[in-house]
Amino acid sequence: MRNKVTIVGSGNVGATAAHWIASKELADVVLIDIVEGVPQGKGLDLLEAMPIEKRDSHILGTQDYKDTANSDIVVITAGVPRKPGMSRDDLLNINHNIMKNVVSEAVKYSPNCILIIVSNPLDAMAQAAYKMSGFPRERVIGMAGVLDSARFRTFIAQELKVSVENVTAFVLGGHGDTMVPLARYSTVAGIPITELLDATTLEKLIQRTRDGGAEIVKYLKTGSAYYAPSAAVTEMVEAILKDKKKILPCAAYLNGEYGMKGLFVGVPVKLGAKGIEQIIEIKLTPQEKAELDRSASAVKELVAVIGV
Ligand code: NAI
Ligand code: 2OP
Repeated sequence: MRNKVTIVGSGNVGATAAHWIASKELADVVLIDIVEGVPQGKGLDLLEAMPIEKRDSHILGTQDYKDTANSDIVVITAGVPRKPGMSRDDLLNINHNIMKNVVSEAVKYSPNCILIIVSNPLDAMAQAAYKMSGFPRERVIGMAGVLDSARFRTFIAQELKVSVENVTAFVLGGHGDTMVPLARYSTVAGIPITELLDATTLEKLIQRTRDGGAEIVKYLKTGSAYYAPSAAVTEMVEAILKDKKKILPCAAYLNGEYGMKGLFVGVPVKLGAKGIEQIIEIKLTPQEKAELDRSASAVKELVAVIGV
């Protein structure tokens, strides 16, 4: 049987994720958006690329959730970006309202799907989707850590002039200024980067990672990053559909792990056919734990505003 992935929101991240997923022939893709014509146009355009790409993925653009029925995975990228004059809380409330509508429609037609949340503020939106869906925590996953770690990996590879394939890195915590890039658990061909880079250089790369989203917004001016975010979504989709049991940093609902309860925070998880199959608890130094706690507090504040 063919796999089916629905992507809600056919903007930059959604459409580019559809592109990666279809061109890797991971699944048939349904693109849905509130704006009439956009998912249909982008979906048909992408479908017409398949003969050139030699892929048989089917792509459908629609406004009707009936077309999303029985999806294996639903990726939610629907939302609005922050505009001048808008507070963080304004954005939070607008995207929370969008999430309410989208999640209820998506889970009505795909009650057994795995939800991958992308919309910002990521950890709070994942928590809202988890509460609204009524799904077990294994089936609601936030995308952020794969992206933030990919940024950290890029900067490490550039600095050391080595292949990105040699670099692994872990960024934990919430998807925001307080994220926690873990140098001790980041390696180049198995060698901890703490042995390859001096403290000042490391701090520079860590700060650039924390500012990674803002760096792209500064260039684009009217939007935010989408190539790396959609590639990150695709890595998660592939891990699930191929039951790869891949260890990736994802936002997960913690139930006592890392001493936290009832909150979405970015931690290493094992992704497979059932979604989050394990939350991996790594040992943290007191300073790393304090940074993770600080990051979790920032998520808690947002979650409190929307009461989820
Ligand atoms: P975009 O503005 O290009 O696309 C968003 C799309 O959502 C638009 O096409 C819009 O019409 C659609 N939409 C709005 N309300 C909807 C509804 N009720 N139902 C269906 N579709 C709806 O934005 P982009 O760049 O694709 O980003 C999407 C979201 O992902 C934003 O919230 C952004 O901040 C977030 N993001 C999160 C990342 C992460 O690491 N978690 C990385 C990159 C983006
Ligand atoms: C990013 O990190 C906007 O969350 C998005 O690029």
